[in-house]
Amino acid sequence: MPADEPRGTDESGWEVLEASADALRGAMRLFPTGVTVVTSGQEERAEGMTANAVISVSLDPLLVLVSVHKEARLNPRIREEGYFAANILAADQEGLSRLFASPERSSGLPAIHSLGGGYGSTGAPLAAGALAVIECQLEEVYPGGDHDLFVGRVVVVRMGDTRKDPLIYHEGGYTTPRPVERPGEAGAFVDSVRGFDVRLQRLRDRKRR
Ligand SMILES: Cc1cc2nc3c(=O)[nH]c(=O)nc-3n(C[C@H](O)[C@H](O)[C@H](O)COP(=O)(O)O)c2cc1C
Repeated sequence: MPADEPRGTDESGWEVLEASADALRGAMRLFPTGVTVVTSGQEERAEGMTANAVISVSLDPLLVLVSVHKEARLNPRIREEGYFAANILAADQEGLSRLFASPERSSGLPAIHSLGGGYGSTGAPLAAGALAVIECQLEEVYPGGDHDLFVGRVVVVRMGDTRKDPLIYHEGGYTTPRPVERPGEAGAFVDSVRGFDVRLQRLRDRKRR
């Protein structure tokens, strides 16, 4: 049986798949994320790459992690420069995301031109029009299979026009968030034992305080 063939449906209704790259990709397609362009280096050495494997790791100390493929041009650049910036893209920046996810894109000055925001305090290139930029000094690099995990200490946070919607990556395409139904309409977290909506209960508790 090929690794990505379904094993069949179990008694609880799950379609159980052998672990494989396709199965993992298929599950992660269902996990919407924001989109960043991670940058490092200046002038001819400038590099940027679209990345959604970006997480806030710790608040004390302030640490952010970016997972970068071992073969990506950005990988050696962050190691050499010792800093990076995660530019959090707005809904109107899909073009920038597509550009910096393209293997044919230019590095160096054309990349700086496309990003259009000059340099940050760390020296990392900034994307004009980004919702926010998190600038980091490189703290540690951990191996992560075919990727490397770059952990940075946050040194500067820049806030842009936060009224704009974020760019979202979901099911292999780009979208923007839809407003969530109000708790009163949604019945979102029904506790299967007690049979009440946990979120509504919490709201009521809060009002009582
Ligand atoms: C929405 C999106 C998110 C991505 N996230 C990552 C990521 O977190 N890490 C990574 O290494 N590549 C990621 N990629 C793929 C790279 O952007 C792409 O492969 C890029 O061309 C790699 O750089 P290179 O051309 O220098 O190899 C992502 C692509 C897209 C479209």
